[in-house]
Amino acid sequence: MTPEDLKPLIRTIPDFPKPGILFRDVTTLMGDARGFAGAVELLAEKVSACGGEAIAGIEARGFIFGAAVAARLGLGFIPVRKPGKLPVPVLAIDYALEYGTDTLEVDPDAVGEGRRVVLMDDLLATGGTALAAAELLRRAGGDVREALFLVDLPELGGAARLREAGIAVEALID
Ligand code: PRP
Ligand code: ADE
Repeated sequence: MTPEDLKPLIRTIPDFPKPGILFRDVTTLMGDARGFAGAVELLAEKVSACGGEAIAGIEARGFIFGAAVAARLGLGFIPVRKPGKLPVPVLAIDYALEYGTDTLEVDPDAVGEGRRVVLMDDLLATGGTALAAAELLRRAGGDVREALFLVDLPELGGAARLREAGIAVEALID
């Protein structure tokens, strides 16, 4: 499997969740056995190359790919959650989305002082979500130098914003 093999497995839905948004839907890729395994393998190769000690995945779709890659590599997984889900005192951050605003939360004890954490999500658009997650993980003591995505939408500028924050960005598919 190559990134080019994965591209046709991603479905595009116009006007979801709001008019004017072209929603890149990875549900179809996840449902394809070879496509899902191939994506996890290619993402795992990138995490291995950068020497991460743990993977942090962003709820919800970042959990699916991030947890699979962590298990594949024998690494721990840190969930970066939507609000109100964690049963312990959390660190929280608000952020702007391509289509609204939201909040992310993390259990600071799950991160670990100085731990090399690779941030993962299914898709990078404006970068608001990933930047907020990286900031949160850093506040919790994580050493966040890389962010990895299945899909980058380069015209929305997320990769440039992350690089300005000192985070190297990689994606399998543009
Ligand atoms: C999507 C995607 C990223 C985020 C990217 O998540 O999975 O987390 O948007 O957008 P950004 O780069 O502009 O911040 P969504 O908010 O749709 O949530 P979900 O994963 O729970 O469906
Ligand atoms: N998250 C933010 N923008 C998105 C898009 N265009 N497709 C899928 N997920 C997204």
